[in-house]
Amino acid sequence: MTPHSPEAAAPALRVRDLRKTYGNGVEALRGVSLDVAPGDFFALLGPNGAGKSTLIGIVSSLVNLSSGSVEVFGTDLVSRRSEAMRLIGLVPQEINFNLFEQPYDILVNYAGFYGIPREEAGPLAEQELRRAHLWDKARVMSRTLSGGMKRRLMIARAMMTRPRLLILDEPTAGVDIEIRRDMWRVLREINAAGTTIILTTHYLEEAESLCRNLAIIDRGTIVEQGPMRALLAKLDVEGFLFDIDGELPTQLPEIEGTTLMAVDSHTLDLDMPRAMDLNRVFAAFEAAGIRIRSMRTKSNRLEELFVRLTGQKEAA
Ligand SMILES: Nc1ncnc2c1ncn2[C@@H]1O[C@H](COP(=O)(O)OP(=O)(O)OP(=O)(O)O)[C@@H](O)[C@H]1O
Ligand SMILES: [Mg+2]
Repeated sequence: MTPHSPEAAAPALRVRDLRKTYGNGVEALRGVSLDVAPGDFFALLGPNGAGKSTLIGIVSSLVNLSSGSVEVFGTDLVSRRSEAMRLIGLVPQEINFNLFEQPYDILVNYAGFYGIPREEAGPLAEQELRRAHLWDKARVMSRTLSGGMKRRLMIARAMMTRPRLLILDEPTAGVDIEIRRDMWRVLREINAAGTTIILTTHYLEEAESLCRNLAIIDRGTIVEQGPMRALLAKLDVEGFLFDIDGELPTQLPEIEGTTLMAVDSHTLDLDMPRAMDLNRVFAAFEAAGIRIRSMRTKSNRLEELFVRLTGQKEAA
């Protein structure tokens, strides 16, 4: 038999029944469980106050957990904390480097803080600054970098310790689309080179563009988890309820691409692709002798959640 290392098969992140109650009594996490596969690009979506930063804070050891467990590549965060920490790179939401230092020095000094000697840190800094498209800015005062450059510098800094798991807490909140795209490009490169990435964001568009898998967190609970594709497919379905006059036929019509069910003797429930023409449904009903008295849309829990997440309600 080939030797098998349990660590090789371990998820990049494994969270089980994680709970966090802050000192003021706020229950920020109410039993969160999730798995992130090695090599994944994973999005954690949720509205304000959902618990995203708390979760990330616990994983990066900035916040103590109340109960539950967290493993990073099979390494338990509580019992083997420093080992687990070495596997993680964190990009915080706020810019927190010294604006009066040069990017090159920021990176080399950061590595030094993690015990990486200067001779090693120098070439590493060059490599990371190049990847972040900042090499030509290596020797400027950081204060003079644009907003997008500052954020790329934060990513380059986090990569100095060669983390296997890179975690970003809303790296693009409040920044314009061009800056976001710049960051996306760098993050894609990092992920393609083998680093697992977890990103928290308010933007569905961002998760959609970058991530393969996602979890949606709301009020401290995971409300949805799975592949991005599956979730988008779900969002593409529209649901209707029809009130029917008279008797329903024993055999309901089959309408290709839709799911039709009788809720009771005078109500039908239909799910259909958003792009489909409702007239096809009306024609099929008529052919089957079904007379519609009224119809209404079913509220879609997931969609309502997304409306809140993406702030479309305010825009509408
Ligand atoms: N240090 C703290 N002490 C007390 N309560 C806190 C603390 N940090 C966060 N909370 C509360 O915990 C809940 C979750 O907050 P958290 O910052 O994790 O949410 P979030 O999803 O990151 O939100 P946002 O999108 O606004 O960043 C909120 O109700 C918040 O007020
Ligand atoms: Mg937050």
